[in-house]
Amino acid sequence: MAATEPVRVFAPAKVNLTLHVTGRRPDGYHLLDSLVVFAGVGDEITVTPSDELTLTIDGPEGAGLAGEGDNLVLRAARLLGPGRGAEIRLTKRLPVASGIGGGSADAAAALRALARLWDLPLPAPEAVLALGADVPACLLGKALRMGGIGEELAPVPTLPAMDILLVNPRIAVPTPEVFRRLERRDNPAMPAELPEWRDAAAFAAWLAEQRNDLQPPAIAVAPQIADVLAALRASDCLFAGMSGSGATCFALYPPAAAAQVTGLDPAWWRAQGPVLP
Ligand code: C5P
Repeated sequence: MAATEPVRVFAPAKVNLTLHVTGRRPDGYHLLDSLVVFAGVGDEITVTPSDELTLTIDGPEGAGLAGEGDNLVLRAARLLGPGRGAEIRLTKRLPVASGIGGGSADAAAALRALARLWDLPLPAPEAVLALGADVPACLLGKALRMGGIGEELAPVPTLPAMDILLVNPRIAVPTPEVFRRLERRDNPAMPAELPEWRDAAAFAAWLAEQRNDLQPPAIAVAPQIADVLAALRASDCLFAGMSGSGATCFALYPPAAAAQVTGLDPAWWRAQGPVLP
């Protein structure tokens, strides 16, 4: 039955703990092999019954993001229920163009919320790939191994409980430019079988053997990423790296440990929460 009350859905940040670029398709999209997790930090979508389809945006990172017609949230709504109406509110807490899936996370949360509001089944991952390469993963919303250009989603062994600190130097990094600057597009994938990680230390040691192939080209575009990584690595973290095409970097900590990081510019965006199971 369709909902008559507002439906609220959390849109967690997507974090690529690893990101191996293993090839390129003839259409220019890159083949990826990535260990993706979600953080207890994110945006929020609230949908309310209405005859018209409208979008309003608020929240600390909402300024400048007008509810324009091509917003990914509205495109997701039209894909799910062509011609249907709803009042959509997006509360933006994740910085835009920052490598943690903001737009994809919002689109996936909108699909979940609207599927409940309109009493429709959720679309299949392949059906939402056209909205963005990260939308299928965000629709699943739990730790996974992402392959293809984002449409192949495989389960991963249970991750140890951890907290994650996200830091963005407040530079919007254009993803296509980072991919363009890649030196090699045929890098090795992660091991075919992911191990059962004994504990957070074993997991961190394993991560240290993997890569984010987009990190060097992202640093070439935005050198401040190297400053963020240096500050995070100097903290008491288990592991630090960059997510997606940047510029957001992450550091992992034992669960519920308040991250003690010095040397972060106060103007940088930061948020901490649990890694979601
Ligand atoms: O699909 P999405 O809009 O998130 O991708 C943004 C851009 O990132 C694409 O236009 C493409 O240049 C690049 N990209 C890629 N290979 C992927 C995902 C994204 O080359 N698998």
